[in-house]
Amino acid sequence: MKRIVIASDHGAVELKTQIVAFLKKKNFEVTDLGTHGSAAVDYPDMALAACNEFKKGGYEFGILLCGTGIGVSIAANKVNGIRCALPFDLFSAEMAKAHNNANFIAFGGRIKYSLPVLDMIEKFLNTKFAGDRHEQRIAKMMAMEDEC
Ligand code: RB5
Repeated sequence: MKRIVIASDHGAVELKTQIVAFLKKKNFEVTDLGTHGSAAVDYPDMALAACNEFKKGGYEFGILLCGTGIGVSIAANKVNGIRCALPFDLFSAEMAKAHNNANFIAFGGRIKYSLPVLDMIEKFLNTKFAGDRHEQRIAKMMAMEDEC
């Protein structure tokens, strides 16, 4: 069974519930690291927990949520090995996989998207990494972790 890890701060708990149900219906095994209620938690803590879980191995990718998706994506991109994209439409969801081979995608529970987040996740799921010239660009990005 394919595995996905997900975590959210208090700004996107309802969206997380929707996403978890959607993924389970698609037969994914979902590791939900919370948060589960309305009590405030710090988004860097949630992002780090999900990234560390992902790095244990065996996950297809991870999903991070906060009010805007911005905080968790910034935090996740500070973790070695993580490429977290912030899709906002079908094209960006597709390119996040095809060109950037993102291993995390982030969304905001307080953002008024022009389409359902689930549609963007579906697009990401149905897209393959294009490889080829994008391999070297990703290698350059990942090398920056040691060089900058
Ligand atoms: C929490 O209030 C909020 O700052 C957080 O959910 C997120 O939007 C940060 O980027």
